[in-house]
Amino acid sequence: MTATAAGWRKDFTWGVSTSSYQIEGAHDEDGRKPSIWDTRCRIAGKIGGGDTGDVACDHYHRYPEDIALMAGLGLDAYRFSVAWPRVLPRGKGAPNEKGLAFYDRLIDALLEAGIEPWLCLYHWDLPQALHDIGGWAVRDSAGWFADYAALAARRYGDRVKKWITFNEFAVFTLFGYAIDWSAPGITDRDTHLKVIHNVNRAHGMGVDVIRSLVPGAAIGAVHNRQAVWPEKDTDADRAAAALLHEHWNLAFPDPQLLGCYPPILGEAIEPYVQGGDMAQICRPIDFFGLNHYGPIFAKEEPDSTWGFAWGSPPDDAPKSEIGWAVWPDAFRDELIDLCKTYKLPVVVTENGCGGHLDAPDASGKVHDAHRVKYLELYTAKMREAMEKGADVRGYFVWSLLDNFEWGSGYGPRFGLVHVDYATQKRTPKDSYAWYRSFITAAKAK
Ligand code: FCB
Repeated sequence: MTATAAGWRKDFTWGVSTSSYQIEGAHDEDGRKPSIWDTRCRIAGKIGGGDTGDVACDHYHRYPEDIALMAGLGLDAYRFSVAWPRVLPRGKGAPNEKGLAFYDRLIDALLEAGIEPWLCLYHWDLPQALHDIGGWAVRDSAGWFADYAALAARRYGDRVKKWITFNEFAVFTLFGYAIDWSAPGITDRDTHLKVIHNVNRAHGMGVDVIRSLVPGAAIGAVHNRQAVWPEKDTDADRAAAALLHEHWNLAFPDPQLLGCYPPILGEAIEPYVQGGDMAQICRPIDFFGLNHYGPIFAKEEPDSTWGFAWGSPPDDAPKSEIGWAVWPDAFRDELIDLCKTYKLPVVVTENGCGGHLDAPDASGKVHDAHRVKYLELYTAKMREAMEKGADVRGYFVWSLLDNFEWGSGYGPRFGLVHVDYATQKRTPKDSYAWYRSFITAAKAK
């Protein structure tokens, strides 16, 4: 499947992505209990500005307005995540009817607007109650996830046919269990290894559950993948980059799709692998979800959990306002490489541009030329990758709305729509108008 010279494939899926904790708010409403992110937001110094997701974009109440904004873009699809602690407040056991009903309303309203729901089960908000009994570090966690997946599949599988197990396995496990940048903020090598393996097992069990309960489901997983380059051209930084590459790019796709861990990590993880695990992890899926922003840089850091740390892009590298490297060629190369390595259709489930200066001007307009430029460059490179044979089936912008950007709080803004957090007023930015025209043109050709 490649793009024809005349235009984008007619069945190409254009969408936007969000996640539960980043937009929903209503943190203690209708029976929702805390996730590990609610807990982290209450620890002084962990989140920029001391922010929390308590209210976020108040999407829990304003979802009809947000769906109207999606409809205005002419989208085919919307990727959202279910908050596990909303539907199973204690993580397992008794479901919460009011929490389940929220996603019924959301899904029904999307379908009514002609927008296909793409449901992601885990975008980082593990119920705190499960963390308290060991969380992802204990083998039982894979079963808890499978039970949660079954609950969601039974409830929504009649209307939802696109299913995603996890969002960015590598990010939440590395940042949460080796680097203290994400919940739960543990920095321990053995815990991290157990977590990697159990999350992989949970993915495989989740795939089986969805496959058996949802006829006609297309099932995928969302992986962050981007080139990892050494900050300096030294042996030490090259070794740091090689190890971070295994953690960042291979630790999940390789076992899930090729049936084995990458070499360095494989040796470390061996003590935690039991008979039958690798077969349980490596289950057939239907698409590879790629989240890609730009390349990352590694440097040696002997005192860290793994001996590497985050490096900086070169001074002269093009960067977004929030300092992330902008490197569209690396996106094209990633798409081509992915298709060759894993031989699955790819859906770009996140791509977008962060800024902290977006704000309405005197006339109330938000001119985010930096984001329009980024999206133009990246969609052009996606097109080039398709012309070179990459089987790309869809593209989702991160994000519909400005939202809670994890450890950075509300500082960075990624939305096509500006959110005034004091009033919850939504203002479509110039990039919103750009994406609408882009989709219209792509469909017209
Ligand atoms: C990704 C996350 C998403 C958002 C974007 C900017 O790593 O999946 O939730 O924070 O980055």
